[in-house]
Amino acid sequence: MTKPITTQPDASSNEPALPSDLIEALPGKFLVFDGPDGSGKSTQLKMFLKAANAAGLRITEVREPGGTEVGEKIRDALLEHLDREEMSLRCEMLLYMASRAQLCEQVIDPALKRGDLVVADRFVSSTYAYQGAAGGIPFSEIDSAAKIAMQGITPDSTLIFDVDQETAASRLNPLLDRMEAKGAAFHKRVREGYQSLIAGDPEHERYLGIDARGNEPQVFANIIDALRTRFVG
Ligand code: TMP
Repeated sequence: MTKPITTQPDASSNEPALPSDLIEALPGKFLVFDGPDGSGKSTQLKMFLKAANAAGLRITEVREPGGTEVGEKIRDALLEHLDREEMSLRCEMLLYMASRAQLCEQVIDPALKRGDLVVADRFVSSTYAYQGAAGGIPFSEIDSAAKIAMQGITPDSTLIFDVDQETAASRLNPLLDRMEAKGAAFHKRVREGYQSLIAGDPEHERYLGIDARGNEPQVFANIIDALRTRFVG
């Protein structure tokens, strides 16, 4: 890890930057960026990775579903539209978990053992929100499958990006994939699912709610504040 020179981000620069106390806290941590489709999490994740790279942190970046060769094939199966059938909810949940199992064993576990900062675009919190809260699978069933897939690997923190549905819908590519095309009522329940994960963790031990309504620098500042509160104190 390169030792940071400044103690605070350079306010005169437009480049996103991490404060030095946070940089010191991040090696070996597992962070997840999550939220409804269109919440802006992937844009913020790119900004965060750029800043973490510039700070000299060793990073392993992954995405879900996917992140491995077999996981990317599972991703295609999950997101492509089917011609003749509906995918059953439990098939869907287990495919997400299958991709996760491969990713945990092949990529995340070794990276954490090396002391990398691991940053994931979605993780098990997505399954609770989409297949659980929105789809209707009981959380206890998701817990059982997650135990098998994750083998004890848990994020140090999951950042959940929250915006109103209209803003989220306006940020989506008009060519909706199979999940995005599930309709407004489904996506309303997804958002409520995320909100209930945040509400169920008032001490922020697992989840950090991020107000994602502002412009990119504002949302990035919210991330830094939340991470400092969680990891620096
Ligand atoms: P992405 O568009 O952020 O790459 O995510 C792919 C889609 O998969 C997105 O609509 C959310 C959905 N998803 C689930 O439904 N359950 C899960 O466990 C994961 C990881 C993603």
